[in-house]
Amino acid sequence: MAVVIDGKQIAASYRETLKEQVTALRSRGIIPKLKVVLIGNDPASHSYVRGKERAAEEIGIDSQILRFDEDMTEAELLKLIDLLNDDHEVHGILVQLPLPNHIDESRVIMRISPEKDVDGFHPENVGKMMLGLDTLLPCTPHGILHLVKTQTDLVGKHVVVVGRSQIVGKPVGMLFLNESATVTYCHSKTADLGAMTRQADILIVAVGRAGLVTADMVKPGAIVIDVGVNRVDNRLVGDVDYEGVKDVASAITPVPGGVGPMTITMLMHNTVEVASRG
Ligand code: GUN
Repeated sequence: MAVVIDGKQIAASYRETLKEQVTALRSRGIIPKLKVVLIGNDPASHSYVRGKERAAEEIGIDSQILRFDEDMTEAELLKLIDLLNDDHEVHGILVQLPLPNHIDESRVIMRISPEKDVDGFHPENVGKMMLGLDTLLPCTPHGILHLVKTQTDLVGKHVVVVGRSQIVGKPVGMLFLNESATVTYCHSKTADLGAMTRQADILIVAVGRAGLVTADMVKPGAIVIDVGVNRVDNRLVGDVDYEGVKDVASAITPVPGGVGPMTITMLMHNTVEVASRG
C-alpha cells in the first residue's frame, strides 16, 4: 500500500518559509508584487487564478488579477506587457494560458521580460534551465522535483515521463536529468507504453487522459506522480488509476491535493526570488 504524497501539506510547509522571506523583504521596504493577466471566461483558468491569488495573500505577496474580455487584441495585450515590464514595482508577470485563438501565445510569452517571467516559459529561461544555470524554473516541474525529493534520492534513478508538453513533460525531464537521473520520455505515439512505464523507478504522468496508467503498467515500489487534472462525472481525477496503482506503488500523489498545490507554491517561490534580487 503506497504512501500518499500529501502535496497540500508539503506546499503549506514550503509556504511558511516563503512567508518568513516576505516578512524580511517587507522590513527592508520591498513588497513582492505579482500581476496576473486573465483573458476571457474559461472556468478552469478563473479557478486556477483564484488559487494563485489566495496563496499570494497568505504569504504576503501583493497580487493583482487584471481581467479582460475575450476580444482583447494581441496588440493591446503586448502593450500591457510592456507597461508591466517597465513598472519597477512589479516583480512577476503571469499571463494565464490558454489564450483566445486570435492571440499568438509564443509572441506573448516572448514579450514578457525574462527577469519577470515567473512561469519560467520564456525561451531565455527555458534555455538556461536546459543548461543547468540558475534561473526562474517552470512551476509544475519544479513542484514535482520538490515532491519527489521528499521521498527519495534521484541520482541514477530511472525517471519515465509520459507526456511532452512545453509546460510540464519536456521541462520536468530536463530538471531530473540535471539531478543525474536517467530520463526516458514517452507520449501518445509511444509503442508499448506499458513496457516503458514498467521500467520506471519514478513515473511522472502528464497527458490529460483519465485512467491512462493502470496498475499493470507500474513497477512494484515505484514512485508515481500524477499531473493530470480531468473532470469525470463532475469529479476531478488524474491520469493514473489511483485505486489500482496505490496497491503497487511505494508512493503516489493524489488528485486533487498532489501536484496542484506545489505548482502554485513554486509560482510564489519565483515571485519572492525576483523580489529578493532587488
Ligand atoms: N494554464 C495552465 N497552467 C498554467 C501555468 O502554469 N501558467 C500559466 N500562465 N497558464 C497556465
